[in-house]
Amino acid sequence: MDKFIIKGGNTLRGEVNIDAAKNAVLPIIAATILCAGKSTIKNYPMLLDVYVIIDALRSLGAKIDINRINRELIIDTSDITDSGVNSDLVRKMRGSFLIMGPMISRFGRFKISFPGGCNIGTRPIDLHLKGFKALGADINLEHGYVEVSAKKLTGAKIYLDFPSVGATENIMMAAVLASGETIIENAAEEPEIGDLANFLNKMGARITGIGTDTLKINGVKALRGISYGPIYDRIEAGTFMIAAAITKSRIKINGVNKEHIKPVVAKLTEMGIDFKFKGQGVLVDGRNELQSIDIKTMPYPGFPTDMQSQMMSLLSCVHGTSVITETIFENRFMHVVELKRMGANIKIDGRSAVIEGINKLNGAEVKATDLRAGAALILAALEAEGETEIFDIHHVDRGYVEIENKLKGIGAQIKRIKS
Ligand code: EPU
Repeated sequence: MDKFIIKGGNTLRGEVNIDAAKNAVLPIIAATILCAGKSTIKNYPMLLDVYVIIDALRSLGAKIDINRINRELIIDTSDITDSGVNSDLVRKMRGSFLIMGPMISRFGRFKISFPGGCNIGTRPIDLHLKGFKALGADINLEHGYVEVSAKKLTGAKIYLDFPSVGATENIMMAAVLASGETIIENAAEEPEIGDLANFLNKMGARITGIGTDTLKINGVKALRGISYGPIYDRIEAGTFMIAAAITKSRIKINGVNKEHIKPVVAKLTEMGIDFKFKGQGVLVDGRNELQSIDIKTMPYPGFPTDMQSQMMSLLSCVHGTSVITETIFENRFMHVVELKRMGANIKIDGRSAVIEGINKLNGAEVKATDLRAGAALILAALEAEGETEIFDIHHVDRGYVEIENKLKGIGAQIKRIKS
């Protein structure tokens, strides 16, 4: 497996371009199943996770042209059948479960391997299933498979016990062709959900309440294939903001939605980092003396769990005591032991990590345990004295497009060693 070797200590400068959001593109690709037609996804991010969902659709019978030069995916879902999806793909990526909503909506039934937990938590699907059931579906869990079937889906009022991103998306996709009105209360409000709703509305769906915790979906008879450009990746942008801060540098980031990144910018501003937004770009200045802070991850518009580990790398080298509390996933502190190898002073107390900032991290051999943990280690390595080797970087390739080239482009010393 590939590894990164990073020599720390460089000051970053110049500009970096942000790609489209992985977590918007995955449900949007799943949503193309909802009609028998052709859709074009513009500026798709060339990521492992995107290729996994492409393979999942192909295994159902979709024809997908990947145009790497124009960065376009042309997805023809005309010949999809409900014969079943390659189970390995669902095991490989939990996001593949997002094809369930569109499949039951189009075919009335679908069976898929039960998605397992992963390195960051058990990640159940009870809320997805609760929503499907409310719409009139029968659920059958047997031999490691989940089968959902419904002669007819009918609009219903669904209250989510927790604003789950995936459950909101899956239920919304199951409801767009149901008869009557569906109301999802306590829906997740993440910008990626708004993007999926906009995509569905462009296909002909009738969804209102976008960006709020109450989504209203009026079922329509049919949807059509469309062309769509997804939103920018707020987590990739936030990761580069921290790259500037941790190296005490000033860089320009292009492709940032000021509104979507607000929860991250608010915390970084509190620490002393300066931001100048102009259009879809932002100049980030991390050269000030930074302050320690406390952070609690929360559903949007709270501080995103997907930025928690990167923030921990930064706080590890900011003078003072900081506390990070993770409330979304029960096991998202796997990066702590790796950061400690680099000299970080972090103690875990239940769902909180107490970080005593030190002057400088030091290079070490470390392992990426999941996508964002990998990003956190790259950031720590940019600051550290000496060389850091990061193993298992396939996790990073799931969610960051050519991160080493983007970092090299702004002055970092990073190389990929292929094995
Ligand atoms: N949950 C339940 N029951 C359910 C669904 C979720 O208890 O039926 C719990 C989960 O176990 C977790 C919490 O609710 O503790 C949040 O899970 P959610 O469903 O909101 O997350 P997800 O849809 O599985 C998406 C992103 C994650 C991101 C989370 C939270 C995609 C493909 N994934 O996951 O992204 O962390 O929302 O914002 O959109 C990443 O990009 O690194 C990543 C993990």
